[in-house]
Amino acid sequence: MNSYKVTTLNDFIILKQKDFPFAKGELSSLLHHIGTAAKMVNKKISKAGLVDIIGLSGDVNIQGESQQKLDVYADEVFIGALLSSGECCGIATEENQNEIVFSDPLAENGKYVVCIDPLDGSSNIDYNVSVGTIFSIYRRITPRGEKVKNEDFLQEGSKQVAAGYIIYGSSTMLVYSTGFGVNGFTLDPSIGEFCLSHPDIKSPEDGHIYSVNEGNYLQLPQGVKSYLKYCQEEDEVSGRPYTSRYIGSLVSDFHRNLLKGGVFLYPGNVNMPEGKLRLVYECNPIAFIAMQAGGAASDGVRNILDIQPLSLHQRSPFYAGSKNMVSKIESFLVSDQPES
Ligand code: AHG
Ligand code: MN
Ligand code: MN
Repeated sequence: MNSYKVTTLNDFIILKQKDFPFAKGELSSLLHHIGTAAKMVNKKISKAGLVDIIGLSGDVNIQGESQQKLDVYADEVFIGALLSSGECCGIATEENQNEIVFSDPLAENGKYVVCIDPLDGSSNIDYNVSVGTIFSIYRRITPRGEKVKNEDFLQEGSKQVAAGYIIYGSSTMLVYSTGFGVNGFTLDPSIGEFCLSHPDIKSPEDGHIYSVNEGNYLQLPQGVKSYLKYCQEEDEVSGRPYTSRYIGSLVSDFHRNLLKGGVFLYPGNVNMPEGKLRLVYECNPIAFIAMQAGGAASDGVRNILDIQPLSLHQRSPFYAGSKNMVSKIESFLVSDQPES
């Protein structure tokens, strides 16, 4: 008989609670609610081609980008789930100009704040291409009893208590870390549970994949142009030329490189000096996962997790993935700096 022995996400969260000797289960409850919201969003995404949910909602988000209906839906679902968890006192999302401070009596004294990109890669939705959700959890700074403030959400990435992402792909996966390695769970649609499928993910230190929007090539910094040339040059010893893979969904591009070995690049360019990706919602949580898996994440000079965010929607150049590939990019950026 084929016995199907599974560890569900909720089993795993409870098992891991012992990593926190004084934990009261608040973080566990929060993660559990994120898992539930992910299942709701997954259900809607899997029907995107069938129902009148695809297409532009007509709104423009605060970044000046057109918002898809699913962006709005995912935003509402995650806000609702985190509010009802009772463990989260406020949330900052890519879709809202300012942080949302919960005033519900149960939630307002929650220990954690969450920063989230509810739907990442949403321009891909109309074309049945993988999208994701990215989240970050911090301990509140403002004492309980007071309302959380902007600074609670502007903590350095190194202060993250947990972070992760959901990838709505050919399978739906939830990957997260609480600072003790990275674990991945695949949604089994037949039982509606995320099941441990990728325990203790370790990213290869080297890789052969680079992921960048090469349409921006002419606007890229000289150091990045030189690095891309290096990737394309033939060298048997280091296995070059490397392979280029770019989906245009950070979660999907990063996830593939995390498992196979590779590097994701979104540099600053002439038109967007800080690049496109948001430090708080995208770079920090992905960097946390990269490092917990033995990889690296940099803005070209600094470890992403060391950057003090100054505003919620701040952007940052971003290089993340296999450790040695990120170092190599940094060395190209340093050596191609014009002399001052
Ligand atoms: P979002 O849908 O949350 O705005 O994020 C889209 C991001 C990210 O997922 C991806 O890596 C990047 O945009 C792709 O940008 P380009 O189309 O400029 O390559
Ligand atoms: Mn995004
Ligand atoms: Mn988004």
